[in-house]
Amino acid sequence: MSSAVIYYSRSNNTRTGAEYIADKKGSELIELIEAKGRKGLTGFIKSGYQAVSGKTSQLVGDPWEKAEKHTSLYLMTPIWGGKTTPAMNAFLNKADFKGKDVTVITFQADDKGSGTEGVYSNIRQIVENGGGVFSGGYAMHSTAPGRFAGKEYIEKQLGEIIEHAKI
Ligand SMILES: Cc1cc2nc3c(=O)[nH]c(=O)nc-3n(C[C@H](O)[C@H](O)[C@H](O)COP(=O)(O)O)c2cc1C
Repeated sequence: MSSAVIYYSRSNNTRTGAEYIADKKGSELIELIEAKGRKGLTGFIKSGYQAVSGKTSQLVGDPWEKAEKHTSLYLMTPIWGGKTTPAMNAFLNKADFKGKDVTVITFQADDKGSGTEGVYSNIRQIVENGGGVFSGGYAMHSTAPGRFAGKEYIEKQLGEIIEHAKI
């Protein structure tokens, strides 16, 4: 059984977490890269609007094909406006989850994980409708938009879910 970590990150928190999980689980790392950038204040405002309205974005390359050969997927994304990111929406829209086991890990500024209940329930539905198994969603705390919470802070939380939730 091989696994892949599929992630989107704008300011390195989720990327740091994704690299950690991939290292611990021996997974292929698949980054969702967008065709258009999201820099500065304009990028921030645009991103919030797009996330809240459930938009998708154009991705570079073919992450769907890379994910095909794996049976276990870790989907990792920041929470924007209480929702998933446009890049992760784009992946979810076209992914084939048949026979796959899916775990979701999110990062956000709010330490109460606001919005994640809805996010995990939406992804569960997509995965199950596609014939896959949703193994759970885990909310990680990071820091404010555009900031980096630090490698140690991120890895400590993930280490705990690997140990206790046996992801
Ligand atoms: C456009 C935008 C919207 C955000 N909305 C939320 C939010 O609704 N709730 C929250 O807790 N954090 C929110 N954040 C904070 C991010 O989730 C947090 O900084 C996350 O660690 C970013 O991950 P990254 O560094 O991998 O890009 C938002 C950040 C951005 C850029």
